[in-house]
Amino acid sequence: MAQSSTCFSVYVALYFVVITLPAFIFATPAHSTSNAQPLLQPYDFLFYSGVRAYFNEDWGKAAELLEKSILAKESLFRVRRKCHDACGSAGKEALDRLDSERGNLWDLLALDWLQKKAECLRFCIGRWVTPTGQLPVSVDIEYEFSSRNPYNFLQVTYYKLEKFQKAASAAHTFFIANPSHLEMRNNIEKYRRMEGVTQEDFQDREIGNEKHWVLYDAAVHHEASSDWAPAAETWKACVNETLHQTEECRVQCEVASQALPEDRGAGSVFEKAAALSLSLLACRQYCVTQVAMRPGRISAHEDFLPSQLEHLHIAQFKAGDISGAVQTLRTLLLFYPSDKNSLDNLQLYSETLGGAAETEATTPNQDIVSYISQSLQEKKLLYFGMENFDFNFVDPDLWTPEDVVPESLRDRWRAEKEKLNEKLKEGDWQEEVDDSGFYAGGPVPQVGVTIAMDNELLNGTNRVVLDGVMTEEECGRILHLANAAGSAGDGYKGRRSPHTPHETFEGLTVLRAAKLAQDGLLNQTDARLLYELGERVRTLLESYFRSPSGLFMSFTHLVCRSATAGDQEGRLDLSHPVHVDNCLLEPDTRQCWREQPAFIHRDLSAVLYLNDNFDGGDLFFTSRDAKTVTARVSPSCGRLVGFSSGPVNPHGVTAVTSGRRCALALWFTKERPYRDMEREEAEALWDMDKQVKSDEEEEAKSAGNARSQARQQKRESRGRVTGARDEL
Ligand SMILES: *[C@@H]1O[C@H](CO)[C@@H](O)[C@H](O)[C@H]1NC(C)=O
Ligand SMILES: *[C@@H]1O[C@H](CO)[C@@H](O)[C@H](O)[C@H]1NC(C)=O
Ligand SMILES: *[C@@H]1O[C@H](CO)[C@@H](O)[C@H](O)[C@H]1NC(C)=O
Repeated sequence: MAQSSTCFSVYVALYFVVITLPAFIFATPAHSTSNAQPLLQPYDFLFYSGVRAYFNEDWGKAAELLEKSILAKESLFRVRRKCHDACGSAGKEALDRLDSERGNLWDLLALDWLQKKAECLRFCIGRWVTPTGQLPVSVDIEYEFSSRNPYNFLQVTYYKLEKFQKAASAAHTFFIANPSHLEMRNNIEKYRRMEGVTQEDFQDREIGNEKHWVLYDAAVHHEASSDWAPAAETWKACVNETLHQTEECRVQCEVASQALPEDRGAGSVFEKAAALSLSLLACRQYCVTQVAMRPGRISAHEDFLPSQLEHLHIAQFKAGDISGAVQTLRTLLLFYPSDKNSLDNLQLYSETLGGAAETEATTPNQDIVSYISQSLQEKKLLYFGMENFDFNFVDPDLWTPEDVVPESLRDRWRAEKEKLNEKLKEGDWQEEVDDSGFYAGGPVPQVGVTIAMDNELLNGTNRVVLDGVMTEEECGRILHLANAAGSAGDGYKGRRSPHTPHETFEGLTVLRAAKLAQDGLLNQTDARLLYELGERVRTLLESYFRSPSGLFMSFTHLVCRSATAGDQEGRLDLSHPVHVDNCLLEPDTRQCWREQPAFIHRDLSAVLYLNDNFDGGDLFFTSRDAKTVTARVSPSCGRLVGFSSGPVNPHGVTAVTSGRRCALALWFTKERPYRDMEREEAEALWDMDKQVKSDEEEEAKSAGNARSQARQQKRESRGRVTGARDEL
């Protein structure tokens, strides 16, 4: 063991020499001559100084220091990258050399090279960075920066300095990585309403590190609208950018100063060196996870690069780029050499292309070839380290071939992989097919609105919970509207619920609100808000569900359900039984019939909640048996639940056992003829109102009798009411 470990550390050391030195030149970069620039200060020091100034309420200084710390960190990373390139980078011949010299590991020459490489780096970085700036930063600081906390401080600082645009941008940047931060959401809401702050001011200042996500979303969007050629281009760019980001991350591992491994007592220098090298290698490997993690998420996209290649392959095929598709397949096979689907497809291509020659001649993407070969080298060493030292490494990849894993670790490795695969498969199984054409996961175009739960968290397909869609104040106004309409009598008295005898049920439509407002019984501004909320929700959901065509409002209904007093003991029924919005669910056969009296033209359903001061009243989704509850959502002000109206989303509402639960129910349709005519009537009413107002002004002048009669007629023509539809 002792001997093998010594050998091993040299092996690891040699590996590093080899991947870093071939193009080893002591070339001094061109800009070396006049180094008038001051050296880079340590960014952790700048950050702490900025925070101190912040707590002393010295806002000008805080802003300056915090900005400097962000800049210093970026510059440090750039310098490291530059020095890494200047001091030599990976070379393939050298790797081959390593293989051929495996029997002769005691290569002192190699150790000499290693030392020279380290000297080169020290010298290079030292020309730009102060000595303290080269030391590793603490874990706390790493955390502060990775969670974007400097932007949190900056947001307040700029607010105090009354630089609201900068404050908005800092707030937004922080919020992207901390989407459940309620206070920041409220702040953003405030900025949004400020004079002089526009949508463009909400810049994500860290977007440079998220380019691959921007491409990813764009590619998925092209795919959803079957634009295959642009989809293929965008996936290609996304793969390229993912590789690029991964490489940037891996370089940082190598050049960044490392904290020395914990001293475990009796270890030789070689063992320490090995441990250091192993943690370096692990750092490089974990870049896969880092790049596959969206800001603000807690888990990474599994199998990120191969899954992009799968998308790319399909897009190329659909776009008619067969030779591109063959190349992508060959690349994909590097990750999964025995994948049956890919092999079958390749076979098919070689037949249709009229001979194997052409497909044989296609070579895989060379960047990925070298990426995989390097990654495999690292994995081999890491597994060796796991076997022979107590080194702990969790392989971030699913594609790692079994023969890389030493026999003694294989059983454990297999079991873990099996577990993960099962988890992934379960996910597949739960994802029922939805033919609505919606595809959840698009952008949420309103600042301050966050995705509280997605398909994964809601255990289903085309479901989402968004928070922050309304402010507390807006909820208050709509609740007030409900109360005022109630006391206005006429059509809005609490009736028995159509679904349960234990609750009363009240409803208000947009048109009715517009009419009551016109007669002075409701606040006009609030009635308008009720109308505008529909538009707000439509914009959000059309984007989030990547609707292939425009959506029309089909029906909006403000509904309150109240528990009747003293009538709640041992209640077993539901406030609203399980149903599907656009078909008739038959739980026994798990069929859903798309026919009347279901609302067959409804495509997307949404509920916007206004309050939470009641008991019960949770929305829940079930599977098609109408029994197995798959997800539950509790209402709160400003929370929006959106879902495709089809058979993938049977849902119901649990009993409201005390208090009054109010919510805005909304439905959308892709078909124009089914749009909500009442909304247009309400719009017409408001337009007419303007007309009447100006009429009245004129009237005051001329006091003509005929005119006032015409006005009376206009009023009457508004009296036409379409039948109440309070189904839900
Ligand atoms: C790939 O990415 C690199 C680095 O971002 C860029 O310079 C290059 O133009 C990209 N190539 C393609 C084909 O997109
Ligand atoms: C109507 O409501 C708005 C907002 O809640 C308020 O500012 C306004 O004063 C109200 N108007 C009347 C006439 O009460
Ligand atoms: C999704 O399913 C898991 C496991 O059954 C459950 O713990 C979780 O609460 C469900 N999600 C929701 C939103 O109910």
